[in-house]
Amino acid sequence: MNRRPLEIAPSILAANFAILGAEVRAVEEAGAAVIHVDVMDGHFVPNISIGVPIVQSLSKATRLPLDVHLMIERPGEFVAAFAKAGAHRIIVHQEATAHLDRVVASIHEQNCEAGVAINPATPIRTLSEIWDRIETVLVMTVNPGFGGQKFIPQTVEKIRELRDVRSRYNCSFRIGVDGGVVLENTGELVTAGADTLVAGTSIFHTPNPGAAVREMRQAANEAISQRV
Ligand code: DX5
Ligand code: ZN
Repeated sequence: MNRRPLEIAPSILAANFAILGAEVRAVEEAGAAVIHVDVMDGHFVPNISIGVPIVQSLSKATRLPLDVHLMIERPGEFVAAFAKAGAHRIIVHQEATAHLDRVVASIHEQNCEAGVAINPATPIRTLSEIWDRIETVLVMTVNPGFGGQKFIPQTVEKIRELRDVRSRYNCSFRIGVDGGVVLENTGELVTAGADTLVAGTSIFHTPNPGAAVREMRQAANEAISQRV
């Protein structure tokens, strides 16, 4: 079975920004593998969130790698700035650029891992010319723009399809899922093939974000152990 170590990636979009350092420390101590940073421009998605200065501050406040998820138009113009700020992985949307190959190359030139996200209505075949050269495919399991939305169940089939093409074409990308990931669907997502679980609300909108990470990890481990 073609599998990478499972990652829990707390999305700070749901954190309390007034105490962001403490929020990140709590999930780091609980075993989170990566911190997910959602960047929104009010154009590609109907919301504005955070940008380069937060990534800069976070890179000094945690030893965990930073996933920067760019939900912005013209992502290629911002790759270098986020890389310099301390991004480890930069994830751009397939729908946001006509020059995906060029943008992916520019992410690699900055010595970052490249990820490509696809919206719920975007089929995985749109990545077929690039999936052997990217480190992550991020399946959006909600329409991007807001935290706390309901998981779209039809997206699970794309996770299975990606797992199949990955082994058929001998690729090595991680399969990430982002949006509406909660304890209750963790098992189903991991069984379908998810390697990285991005979760905001279900981790930070709880009294104990560290405990939420540990519970999600446990649910994921149970699903992994039951896989054939
Ligand atoms: C959605 C963002 C997500 C978001 C997930 O546009 O890309 O990373 O933070 O939030 P929850 O887990 O609350 O659905
Ligand atoms: Zn995200």
